[in-house]
Amino acid sequence: MRNGLRQTRKKRNAMNCFPQTNLILIVLFFCIILSEALQASSVSAGQKIYNRCIACHSLSYNRTGPKHCGLFGRRAGTVKDYEYSNAMKASHVVWNNSTLDAFLESPLDYIPGTNMGYAGIKVDTERADLIAYLQQVTQSNECK
Ligand code: HEC
Repeated sequence: MRNGLRQTRKKRNAMNCFPQTNLILIVLFFCIILSEALQASSVSAGQKIYNRCIACHSLSYNRTGPKHCGLFGRRAGTVKDYEYSNAMKASHVVWNNSTLDAFLESPLDYIPGTNMGYAGIKVDTERADLIAYLQQVTQSNECK
């Protein structure tokens, strides 16, 4: 009789463990889905902001400004067959999230003497979205 009771208790304890584990897994799962969704919405918002750049830039060929394909990890002023300002060539900047964020906020403050005649994007979230888009698209099939 006592033995039987102990066993049921043991069983119950074991069962109790699982709902908690499941809950953690479910929360984790939703966190992943949510972060993917946020990332996707950031990229698509960034794509719209990129419309402000296409007056001068294209992803895959040089226009008024240099092409953007392969931008991340590239040294500033190094696209072949594009004539940069001396300021850009001498800047020693390597393009990544933080250098792009600073440059796009205020190009002339970040690289005084740059030819990029653009006032900059002052809204932090807009820059973050644009950079998320650039990071994805400049390494995507559109650039192959
Ligand atoms: C009015 C034209 C114009 C607009 C609009 C413009 N750019 Fe530029 N951009 C340029 C020019 C010109 C250069 C080359 C600057 C230099 O040599 O100093 C440049 C350079 C750059 C570079 C450096 C690239 C490299 O190869 O080193 C980046 C990054 C860049 N632009 C991003 C952007 C983004 C993102 C936008 C939109 C928010 C934008 N630009 C809008 C004209 C423009």
